[in-house]
Amino acid sequence: MRGLLLLVVAAVSAYADSPMLTSRAALGSLTGEQIYDHICQGCHMQGGQGATGAGAYPKLAGNGKFVSWEFVAQTVLNGRGGMPPFGAPANQEGSSRPHLTDAQISDVVNYVRTHFKNSYKSTVTADQVAALPHPAAELFGPQ
Ligand code: HEC
Repeated sequence: MRGLLLLVVAAVSAYADSPMLTSRAALGSLTGEQIYDHICQGCHMQGGQGATGAGAYPKLAGNGKFVSWEFVAQTVLNGRGGMPPFGAPANQEGSSRPHLTDAQISDVVNYVRTHFKNSYKSTVTADQVAALPHPAAELFGPQ
């Protein structure tokens, strides 16, 4: 368990190191692919291969659960298990968890659902993401 925690901390630090990610404006100009590379890849690895060994980071490649865009979007919005919520306001304590807007979430959802051997063609819009419940945003307080 301690090993797992260290792994999570290491992964979180990996993406926190990029100064780009501390600025919402900078993130706003990124494509879904770039958001994946800068934020998700630190944990889910290149090509969405996941991390084996600790077994903590599921494979996003060829992932049958991705048939549901809501599942993917809800995971990014509100977190899941050891994954932090990216729909919550950025942590005020200078920490590592960047905030993604609904538009950025739809971009990265579209990217992972159409790459890494996932070929779900339906595109998700920012409005569809906005219509999902955002409990993490409430939990972490206003922007
Ligand atoms: C700090 C590490 C970390 C980051 C960064 C991260 N994830 Fe995750 N992710 C996890 C962990 C851990 C799980 C497993 C959660 C569980 O089920 O307990 C997970 C699960 C998922 C799942 C569910 C997969 C499944 O088969 O159940 C999806 C989808 C997902 N992540 C997408 C993303 C996307 C997209 C990003 C980038 C916006 C991202 N993750 C960033 C750690 C991370």
